[in-house]
Amino acid sequence: MKVSNVAELLESSTILQEVYVKGWVRTFRSNRFIALNDGSTIKNIQCVIDFENTAEETLKRITTGAAIAIKGIIVESQGRGQRVEIQVNEIEILGDSNPDEYPIQPKKHSFEFLRENAHLRMRTNTFSAVMRVRSKLSFAVHKYFQENGFNYVNTPIITGSDAEGAGEMFRVTNFEDNKAPVTEDGKIDYTKDFFGKETNLTVSGQLEAETFAMSLGKAYTFGPTFRAENSNTTRHLAEFWMIEPEVAFMDLDGNMDLAEDFIKSVLKDILENCEDDLAFLDQRLTQEEKSNPQAERSEMSLIEKLKFVVDNNFKRVSYTEAIDILRNSKPNKKKKFQFPIHEWGADLQSEHERFLVEKHFKCPVILFDYPANIKAFYMRLNDDGKTVRAMDVLFPGIGEIVGGSQREERYDVLIEKMKALDIEEKELWWYLDLRKYGTAVHSGFGLGFERLVQFATGMNNIKDVIPFPRTPQNAEF
Ligand code: 4AD
Ligand code: MG
Repeated sequence: MKVSNVAELLESSTILQEVYVKGWVRTFRSNRFIALNDGSTIKNIQCVIDFENTAEETLKRITTGAAIAIKGIIVESQGRGQRVEIQVNEIEILGDSNPDEYPIQPKKHSFEFLRENAHLRMRTNTFSAVMRVRSKLSFAVHKYFQENGFNYVNTPIITGSDAEGAGEMFRVTNFEDNKAPVTEDGKIDYTKDFFGKETNLTVSGQLEAETFAMSLGKAYTFGPTFRAENSNTTRHLAEFWMIEPEVAFMDLDGNMDLAEDFIKSVLKDILENCEDDLAFLDQRLTQEEKSNPQAERSEMSLIEKLKFVVDNNFKRVSYTEAIDILRNSKPNKKKKFQFPIHEWGADLQSEHERFLVEKHFKCPVILFDYPANIKAFYMRLNDDGKTVRAMDVLFPGIGEIVGGSQREERYDVLIEKMKALDIEEKELWWYLDLRKYGTAVHSGFGLGFERLVQFATGMNNIKDVIPFPRTPQNAEF
């Protein structure tokens, strides 16, 4: 007999038909009502047992977490809260779950506790909803780019270059402990290592993606990236997924248009395709904010926030304008910022970004034309000689969600910049070749996928939107 999933059964109008479902017991009450969930939807289906005709032994084994198979008839529900339920004819225990040991009890668990049980946390409403939304969002990402003529490119995970020049890389080596050969001047001799050179896990696929933009025209990556930055915040992971479109013949204005259109499109997609999960997450967030009197109340619910982003223009502001706003802002004058803004050239911290978005403009903001010396080497220098064609998209509750730029396409300017920053020409000879053979204006950006999932689900901590987070001192699972 065909196994149905709970999502289809709850939608079904097949009253009185015999059905077969498999799933896990969420709760079992009065020796009669099983709330069954199979992961296909946030909703459980109620399965009603005729306990007088069910063996005592079987009833005892219907415990929270147990895997069961049920054959029964779909009927209109007598109780409130569901349209239909299953009148059980036959129940089979597929896998027991000892109720005294099973960590996921039918009660509220802290997120901290659930992180320690990350292998089971997808069995809770919150995490199943988050992970379904994450999955739908990644599909929406591919859909957007595929429908707009972009080519999906898989850039290397092991690489010899530091795309961001920030030195936050995890080294990849095949040397045995304490047995790395050394050169005459005492340094580790990587020419004898597996790849014959120093290698690391990639921090970004951008530089390789540029080779695709400069051949296929429009390309995007969607893959894992790694950063050994020791920042234990609610917005940083050591391993995260990045989406990096790169487009030939597109300038910074086009790049901003693309970022805005892309973000709006994928959020619109989940508003349409994740209704039940978003409704649940919306309520969860409202309750969380209510139960924590210290938390700042949002003016909008989660779904309202998503709709607001989809329906309104992002505000575009130059770095210079933003610095003026910040310098004259109340928190700056009252010394409320941890990093006070004194002068032009300061790097913006998350507190500044969030002030601009949440307090000043009250909408997503795209900042552009940053000082050259706080941005990466590959960004195109403006005619003023001190700013570059960079852009960051800033989001409420998140801060920076996108970082991108128009790339420096002029060979001479790029070489000079690399020299100034001590970036070796021989490391990036292939990147420089793009500027020698048929160079052209091109641009792209990187969006941190987990930060997008955070915004979409209203989860406060980035560790709760990736299945198995990697952070300093933690690589469990
Ligand atoms: O601003 P970033 O460093 O930009 C780049 O890597 C460029 N190469 C992208 C490009 O132009 N193709 O990183 C891009 C985004 C950030 O805006 C942020 O959303 C996310 O990646 N991000 C992180 N997300 C989670 N944990 C971290 N440690 C992150 N670091 C960056
Ligand atoms: Mg950045």
